[in-house]
Amino acid sequence: MDKNSPPDWDPRSEAVLNDQMTTYDDMRHRCPVAHSRYGYTSLFRHEDVMRVLKDHETFSSAVSRFPSVPNGMDPPEHTVYRRLIEPYFSPEHMNAFAPTCRDVAVRLVQALPGEGTTELMGDFAQIFALQIQCAWLGWPADLHEPLRLWTLKNHAATLARDEAALSAVALEFDGYIKDLLAVRRTDDNAAPDDITTSLLRNQSLGRSLTDDEIVSILRNWTVGELATISASIGILTHYLAANSGLQQQLREHPALLPAAIDEILRIHAPLVMNRRVTTKQVTLGGRTLAKGSRLALVWASANRDEAVFGNPDEFRLDRDPELNLLYGAGIHVCPGAPLARLELRIVMEELLGRTSQIALVSDREPVKAFFPASGFSALPLQIQKPSSRAL
Ligand code: HEM
Repeated sequence: MDKNSPPDWDPRSEAVLNDQMTTYDDMRHRCPVAHSRYGYTSLFRHEDVMRVLKDHETFSSAVSRFPSVPNGMDPPEHTVYRRLIEPYFSPEHMNAFAPTCRDVAVRLVQALPGEGTTELMGDFAQIFALQIQCAWLGWPADLHEPLRLWTLKNHAATLARDEAALSAVALEFDGYIKDLLAVRRTDDNAAPDDITTSLLRNQSLGRSLTDDEIVSILRNWTVGELATISASIGILTHYLAANSGLQQQLREHPALLPAAIDEILRIHAPLVMNRRVTTKQVTLGGRTLAKGSRLALVWASANRDEAVFGNPDEFRLDRDPELNLLYGAGIHVCPGAPLARLELRIVMEELLGRTSQIALVSDREPVKAFFPASGFSALPLQIQKPSSRAL
């Protein structure tokens, strides 16, 4: 397939944006390796996505002209930075963070009204994602609102493919982080003992990290966490509101939550896709792609591939976790997965444990999120809390 091939679909058409999941299911059957006029070839099948993930020499992550640590790197550079960041997601760090995570979740669930309609995305999911991100990195509460607006601007610029706006939002983020770093440098030994300070003091490369490296790492963690965690909370809560039997089962048996969360997020992906570029000519799904072809790995489709999962909508707790591409696979597999799993387990434990019923609202439909976001942009729910228990 060359750059002049006619497009197989329009990923930014109104119909696709209004119902991403249905379109991806359709494309997986109709045209699993699909070219669009935006210069991307999208891969919809599990098998093709896996092939890319296992061969980082042919399928490079250096997709952008902006340096991106470690997302946009290939080995050997990528390996060096993965070694640097992985310890931040160690079991010790996760155990130490769990009580703070639970405090944030409990406070926000307690703040939800016990009757009437709640708009879960704005009133809960986005606030949880912001507060938990800032708590994890040691960032002040006055960054919550700028970060919330920043995520919206980042999504709008990505959707519009507006390079100037993308550079401006990147610069805006750099400004926030460089200010935080400057304060920590001034405070020196009195700087708070948090992850941001720890990155500033990190010597694992045999030198201090530059500000640009720290900003890039933190930008990728922020992008990795903010939108996906709030989308995941929306998707999970919507699914349980629509499936009251499962909701009650998980309320009574929270030990089932980790497997249930991964399975619901397999059915409905919180992260739509990631990118690669080919380093040589390859054939995928019977189509020949020239060297330099840009690819979109569509997690939201690969994780619903009938060839691997049978009926993609069938909820099962006994699936092989190796097949679930929620957090990717191969050398770029999500390093933040332990943190995401901890946050989602705790927030869902508190949301279910401190409510007696969560239900959809009959006369107010959920509003699906537009690409590049997933899940819902508005999710009206009726949340009932048990009145007699001291919560
Ligand atoms: C539900 C939440 C999340 C989902 C679904 C998710 C999903 C993914 C996926 C599919 C990849 C692979 C990308 C690729 O192959 O190109 C990835 C990579 C990555 N994620 Fe996550 N992620 C989540 C949360 C997080 C969190 C909480 C962080 C950090 C705080 C994070 C940081 C990263 C980074 C830095 C990479 C790039 C790794 C590399 O290139 O080696 N993610 N994530």
